[in-house]
Amino acid sequence: MRTIGVLTSGGDAPGMNAAIRAVVRAGLDKNFNVMGILRGYSGLISGEIIPMDRQSVADIIQRGGTILRTARCAEFKTEEGRKRGANILKTFGIDGLVVIGGDGSFRGAQLLSKLGISTVGLPGTIDNDLAYTDFTIGFDTATNTVLDAINKLRDTSTSHERVSIVEVMGRNCGDIALYAGLAGGAENIIIPEKGYEQDTLCRTILEGKMHGKMHNLVVLAEGIGGAEDLAKKVEEITGIETRATKLGHIQRGGSPSCRDRILASRMAFRAVELLEEGKSSRVVGIKDGKIIDEDIDEALEEPKHFDEKLFEIANALS
Ligand code: ADP
Ligand code: F6P
Repeated sequence: MRTIGVLTSGGDAPGMNAAIRAVVRAGLDKNFNVMGILRGYSGLISGEIIPMDRQSVADIIQRGGTILRTARCAEFKTEEGRKRGANILKTFGIDGLVVIGGDGSFRGAQLLSKLGISTVGLPGTIDNDLAYTDFTIGFDTATNTVLDAINKLRDTSTSHERVSIVEVMGRNCGDIALYAGLAGGAENIIIPEKGYEQDTLCRTILEGKMHGKMHNLVVLAEGIGGAEDLAKKVEEITGIETRATKLGHIQRGGSPSCRDRILASRMAFRAVELLEEGKSSRVVGIKDGKIIDEDIDEALEEPKHFDEKLFEIANALS
């Protein structure tokens, strides 16, 4: 009987637990032993490994975060650290590993596969910054959390006839800002993929006021950042009271959406199938609604596609 492991690494994302649950239960159904590795590559190097049975993943599909915990581990970026990790896995009889994380975690998985461990990556990150997949696990929930915040900010901005600048996560990717901004009817969406000009922004805000807008909602991606400074400048130039809100880690928590739970379950099931088929150094994704898998190297080389049309629609409708 083969033994496979599962770990979560990098920033957590809602839906990671649904993915862990699916790896464990699909693995057991396929007659694998399944082990959970705690605290990402950090726990791997220190041998924090526990057996997983069906019951160990009961009552977690609805929970945010990750029951396996997560970490960032500088040591794993060294050859020596990875060799230690591979040896620990071999000591536990683990020859297949599902890594749930972002691009950094995938790089680690790719290098680990060169040391004789079959690895499969699942995209677990709220950022939606992986080019090979249309969506990552956690993005939908995070976007809905941002949307909820935007709705609330709209209420108070309207009452006070203010400009509200809301800064959202996403690292260098503007997808959270773009999707939540469009769905929330934001007047302006500022993302790294497009950049912005302060004068144009202020002019749009003033024009909006002249046309009877009661508030102005600006969604700003952290890849550009500086919500507080921008709010001061906008207020200075337009004369309209402006407030900045940085949503922060609220965006990473919460019960995963239906979409994220299903995405996580489908992807994790495929990851176990890939290990069963003897594949390694693969990542699982979704393209046009279909679950796909790709070589890790190739997946990480793909340039991230930006949805120009969504941006055009958001601007046209604001
Ligand atoms: P994410 O997986 O969300 O992109 P990080 O970039 O922080 O998050 O990566 C998570 C972990 O993956 C790092 O702490 C490190 O242990 C491992 N990792 C990242 N980059 C590499 C790399 N180039 N080589 C080996 N391991 C890496
Ligand atoms: O990658 C997920 C993410 O939440 C990014 O959106 C953000 O830039 C980063 O992680 C924050 O990292 P930390 O939790 O270490 O502050």
